[in-house]
Amino acid sequence: MTHIQTDRGHLIGIIGAGPAGLYAAKKLVEAGAHVVLFNRDIKPGGLAEYGIFPTKHKMKEGLRKQFRRILAYPQVDYYGNCSVGEKGVLTLADLQTFGFDALICAAGAQGTKNLGLPGEDAVGVCHAKDLVYHYNHLPPFSQRHFPIGKRVAIIGMGNVMIDIAHFLLRLWKNVEEVIVVARRGPAERKYDEKEYKYIEAFVDQEALRQEIARLRPRLEAVGQDADALMAEMTTATPPARPADCPGRMLFRFLASPTRVLTDADGRVCGLEVEENILVPRNGDTSARGTGTYVEIPLETVVFAIGDRVDEAIGLPYAHGEFFTNAQSDAPHTTGAAYQVYDPVHQKVLEHTYVVGWSRKASDGLVGKAKQDAELGVETVLQDLLAIPAPAAVEVAERRQAIRRLVEVRCTYPITKDEVTLLEEAERQIATQAQVEEYKFDSNIGMLKAIDSQKAGVV
Ligand SMILES: Cc1cc2nc3c(=O)[nH]c(=O)nc-3n(C[C@H](O)[C@H](O)[C@H](O)COP(=O)(O)OP(=O)(O)OC[C@H]3O[C@@H](n4cnc5c(N)ncnc54)[C@H](O)[C@@H]3O)c2cc1C
Ligand SMILES: NC(=O)c1ccc[n+]([C@@H]2O[C@H](COP(=O)([O-])OP(=O)(O)OC[C@H]3O[C@@H](n4cnc5c(N)ncnc54)[C@H](OP(=O)(O)O)[C@@H]3O)[C@@H](O)[C@H]2O)c1
Repeated sequence: MTHIQTDRGHLIGIIGAGPAGLYAAKKLVEAGAHVVLFNRDIKPGGLAEYGIFPTKHKMKEGLRKQFRRILAYPQVDYYGNCSVGEKGVLTLADLQTFGFDALICAAGAQGTKNLGLPGEDAVGVCHAKDLVYHYNHLPPFSQRHFPIGKRVAIIGMGNVMIDIAHFLLRLWKNVEEVIVVARRGPAERKYDEKEYKYIEAFVDQEALRQEIARLRPRLEAVGQDADALMAEMTTATPPARPADCPGRMLFRFLASPTRVLTDADGRVCGLEVEENILVPRNGDTSARGTGTYVEIPLETVVFAIGDRVDEAIGLPYAHGEFFTNAQSDAPHTTGAAYQVYDPVHQKVLEHTYVVGWSRKASDGLVGKAKQDAELGVETVLQDLLAIPAPAAVEVAERRQAIRRLVEVRCTYPITKDEVTLLEEAERQIATQAQVEEYKFDSNIGMLKAIDSQKAGVV
């Protein structure tokens, strides 16, 4: 693809101000374009603000600094508390009348992947994203009650599983056992070893050795070395468990959940799993059920199996993803993976794009979302070469008109200056309380803090 550096001053709308939306904005502005960001949350940052583990202060603050610099560009307008979609304060159709030369959806993957298991809606089942948003203080999840019992199963074996286990064992503390339920085996663990260090102290090493020994014939049947896996996952000298964190962590491999068991009150009392074998598949493995079922008694089930996009945004959608030109049968143009495609009318949706986790749900770290956004913007800029750019005065008028429309439609739209005031209020509270960070966990709290800052009252 040609590397396009410049734009003649087009006006681009972006849905979502997480890493993908913000890095897309940066690249667009640096090329010469103007950007209006619409964000569901009051604060920008997406999962960098409300996903990354709360004690990773340095990483989070480093990202916030970058995001502040992006929002500070005069070519960027920001409207927080402005959700787009069928359930939002603005619809996609509204945005299509705002006079944007291109529209980019960077709203992440806000939909929930359900497996359709009996009992999946029981009290005591939750999805990782909701819990992650809760402990990272994102309203309204911050104020939701999560009934967490003494024995908790986490389904999935990626980095999100590590974060949930880290939260339950080190911050929540009131958990005796965290059981990781993985459909494949130890060789297919998806988490990063660096992240495993956070929870290694809690892993019951002897139980893990026994679990891998139990699976030995099934691992060796696909050429996996059980001893090597044992050596990779266990250690004779694990780090010490903090005295005030009594929980332990167990692994249950080659087990697919088939049913959530509930008591007479509809609360979770166990998880039925089917024992799996591994079968080779295109150089990898897949899990196949054996027809043997086992019940694990527990009180809470957390699904950490990735997410899907939110189809309520209104873009063409199929199987957990927005439909792109790359998925169509039509001859693909350059950048097809970023262009939204309408399968009903069998054509590319003009000047409409997806980037980041809205393009590929639950895929990679912030750096990957950044790279994806930048590649997507190259496609946008390439396509914009074909349409005339508005005069600077016209762009200014359109931005004003959008501001007026937003003020009519959104009850409390938050501008970038107001985000600065909010951050200042939170900084002041953190300083007074002598804590590393303070976050309001209700929208009302944030709005009041902004008003108080405006009035000079802290
Ligand atoms: C639990 C967890 C921990 C993670 N930890 C790390 C880590 O330590 N290090 C790392 O590098 N990566 C980490 N990641 C990955 C990283 O967070 C993602 O790669 C990145 O945030 C994806 O960026 P995004 O902008 O595509 O989506 P998101 O970050 O989800 O941002 C989406 C944005 O869109 C907005 N939005 C959503 N719906 C709408 C709507 N309808 N209208 C308007 N706006 C909307 C949201 O408010 C949000 O601001 C973690 C991910 C998770 C889930
Ligand atoms: N600290 C960090 O750096 C950090 C923290 C959190 C998240 N992240 C990133 O965010 C992204 C998302 O993380 P993630 O943990 O949600 O996803 P992930 O890495 O894709 O892991 C998902 C896990 O769920 C399992 N799974 C998927 N579908 C399943 C199903 N239908 N039934 C049973 N198990 C199923 C997968 O098993 P299979 O392998 O068998 O499919 C896998 O073990 C990743 O790129 C991750 O690196 C990073």
